[in-house]
This record gives sequence, C-alpha cells and structure tokens, in this order.
Amino acid sequence: MKVKKFKPLGAELTNFVFNNKTTEEELTKLKKIFLQNSVLILRGLDLNAKNLLSIARLWGKPQKHTNFSGIEGYPEIIKIQNYGKKFHTNDHWHSDVTFEEKPPDITFLYALEVPLKGGNTLFSNQYLAYEFLPIKIKNRLEGFRAKHSNIRILKMMGQDSKKEKYASHPIFRIHPETNKKALYVTEAFVEGIEGMGEEESSRILKDLYLESSKTKYRFEHRWIKGDLVMWDNRCVQHYAIHDYGDETRNMYRITINI
Ligand code: SIN
Repeated sequence: MKVKKFKPLGAELTNFVFNNKTTEEELTKLKKIFLQNSVLILRGLDLNAKNLLSIARLWGKPQKHTNFSGIEGYPEIIKIQNYGKKFHTNDHWHSDVTFEEKPPDITFLYALEVPLKGGNTLFSNQYLAYEFLPIKIKNRLEGFRAKHSNIRILKMMGQDSKKEKYASHPIFRIHPETNKKALYVTEAFVEGIEGMGEEESSRILKDLYLESSKTKYRFEHRWIKGDLVMWDNRCVQHYAIHDYGDETRNMYRITINI
C-alpha cells in the first residue's frame, strides 16, 4: 500500500485493492490514514451496490437519508444524478446532513459515470479553518451552538415543508476520535447562532463561511470512473461543482455512523 498525501487534506492510496480479502490489520492502517488526512481516495475500483455497502459496513453503520430515497434493494445507497444546476443540492459548501441530531460521520462516494470535463468536488479542512480564526472570534464563540435545518433543500426540491428538520450543534466541534477542534457551520444548512441577535449572528456567520472555504484549506478532486472517495464530515466540508451542463454524472453515496 502506497500513500500519496495532498495538502492541506486528502490522501490517495495506490497498490491496494479493497476486497473481501482485506485484513483487519490493513483496515486498521486505512482508518489511521483516513483520520490523519480526512479524505481518502481509492481509484480504479469496480464496485456494485452490494460490494460498496459491504465496504461501508467495515467502517460503521450505513444510514438512510432523510430526504432522498435509496436505490432499489439498497435503502442506504442514494444515487446522485445530474438534475441540472438549479436542482443540484450539493453545489454549495456543506458537511452532510447536519440538520440531523446525529449527522453522518463518514460519507462514501463512488463514481459510476463522470462528465468528460468538470464535476470536481472541493474539500475544505475545518481543523485549519478553526485553527486560523482570530483569537477574538474564538473567545466570542466558545460554547455557542448553531441551528441547522434542511428547509432550503426541501424548498429547492419542491418538497413539503412539514418535512423540515432542525438540529443544534456546537460551532466548534471536537472530533471524537482525534480530539481536535474543527469549525462546524455550513452555509447550506445553518439558520443562525443560538442565543445571539440576528444581526450579529448573520455578520459572524458570513465571516465564518468565508474562512471555512478559503482556498488555502482546500483540495480539489478530479473524478475518474471507479473512484471511491471517503470524507470525514466531522472535520471536512465539501462542495460539488456543477459546471457540466447536461452531461451525465452518476454517483453512489453512502453515509455511515461509527
Ligand atoms: C455530496 O455533496 O454529498 C456529493 C458530492 C458530489 O457529488 O461530488
């Protein structure tokens, strides 16, 4: 197994095949590399829904998505397809499903079909985004929580607003496995900072969104069919760029909790 590390996050594994012969020892090594780099890339895999699900199960318990139905026979796998930029629910900075009380720890995305050009995914390191915040902001926000909601997604998809879900999460989240602090507010889902006036909350959130998505914290993944990319939602935000018009882009996505 060879590890090619990217900066400021992400690692690609080469000379390694994920299959039913993968040993406990290899898996432990993989998990360590994942925790250190927050995004893990494996290329050239030929997976079907069943294999993908069994890989995800090696890491944790697959979840069913609140707003999207799974593919036939596999309620935990959603298919991400190109419905056009207007209906593209991932073309913004976010960490997955933060409007749930227990959002998924890890996401697995497997490329079935990719456009000839474009369709890259950006990842941003939220440990660094926290680390480089001015001390004044860190002190002001310590202990504060933000309200996350799925209302904007529901509206975009024309779904019933009765399906709205809310959750409250700390603005600075401690990763349960690395014990490091990460910034945890997402432009896609956060409605406001709890216990703070609207004006101050909007002003601070605007600054935090700018900070969390700065180019210096990012890695950009260019997809090739057969790529499996995993990311750590506890310390990473991502952005699926929609710049491929009507071209086909099909992905299988599974989220898991550990
Ligand atoms: C997602 O936001 O979960 C999917 C990202 C992508 O399609 O690149």
